[in-house]
Amino acid sequence: MRYLVTGGAGFIGSHLCEALLAGGHAVYVLDDESTGSRANLQHLFTNRELRFIAGSIADTALLSRLVGTVHHVIHLAAAVGVKYILDNPLQSILTNVVGTEKVLQACKEFEKPLFLASTSEVYGLQTHAPLRETDYSVIGATSVSRWSYACSKALDEFMALAFHNQGAFPVTIARFFNTVGPRQSPAYGMVMPRLVDQAIRNEPLSVYGDGSQTRTFTHVKDCVEAITGLLSHPEAAGEVYNIGGTEEVSILNLSKRVKVIADSQSEIRLIPYSEVYSRNFEDMPRRVPDISRLQRAINFHPRYGLDEIIKDVIADRRRLLA
Ligand SMILES: NC(=O)c1ccc[n+]([C@@H]2O[C@H](COP(=O)([O-])OP(=O)(O)OC[C@H]3O[C@@H](n4cnc5c(N)ncnc54)[C@H](O)[C@@H]3O)[C@@H](O)[C@H]2O)c1
Repeated sequence: MRYLVTGGAGFIGSHLCEALLAGGHAVYVLDDESTGSRANLQHLFTNRELRFIAGSIADTALLSRLVGTVHHVIHLAAAVGVKYILDNPLQSILTNVVGTEKVLQACKEFEKPLFLASTSEVYGLQTHAPLRETDYSVIGATSVSRWSYACSKALDEFMALAFHNQGAFPVTIARFFNTVGPRQSPAYGMVMPRLVDQAIRNEPLSVYGDGSQTRTFTHVKDCVEAITGLLSHPEAAGEVYNIGGTEEVSILNLSKRVKVIADSQSEIRLIPYSEVYSRNFEDMPRRVPDISRLQRAINFHPRYGLDEIIKDVIADRRRLLA
């Protein structure tokens, strides 16, 4: 099978390309390297089944050429990361809405199946746990820029499902919950690599707000296993799946675990959101997935616990910072 992976030079994309190539598939990567880098694929370039195309999903002609030559499209390219979204509000919306629409139109033109990456952010301000795929989105006011990411990804889901339901091409949607692991950059507002870098450098660990907000963390290898499982499960088409870990942890407790595992002398410092982002920043209080739909579909069980995940990220960041 030949796959087109948009955003394949990014964090999740590069691990997915690795798995697809290992599975004997051919992979075309389309990436503009805005937050990813071809360096993430460096170790794979000896494989002749990998082709890197520097370019944007905004390029309709390029998309058309590529989609026409593959069997399956995996759309990961997006503006990602709270900091990146707040720093680039308009471009982020355009990439995530107009860019995705172009990918969908190309899939329609060639009737190619699509795997679409969405996000747990679409649940917005929901406070119950676990979150099920059928739960409502509770999105904040439009004056609070961070909700544009959730809205743009929700719109992507609506558009993709509309194409699917009209019989244009099969679509499978996955909502990733905080996915972490080697090669994730701390530059765009991702909590795990930031805390780990601070711990390694014995700098204060910055916990935003009062640290009571909770998350679950998924090792990127578990995430990739879920993606490849769904790709080889045709019955998944037309559905939305949560992909995430199950161990709920507050960010304050996460910082304590990172500090212990990294054997760091860092202090933990609570930083008001207003000092990091804008005055009217809002965060999601709680984000825990119900993964029973995914388990029923592909018998998925995360293999990595939180401590193992933290250890892997520490090893990766130590290597990079050495
Ligand atoms: N990592 C997470 O925790 C997480 C959580 C929820 C959803 N997601 C989703 O997973 C996908 C991958 O995210 P990631 O964490 O690997 O982030 P990433 O930033 O590493 O990957 C995104 C990739 O898309 C590329 N890209 C951005 N705009 C592009 C454009 N216009 N044309 C071509 N390429 C473009 C970037 O250069 C990057 O390589 C995204 O769709 C994101 O919304 C990730």
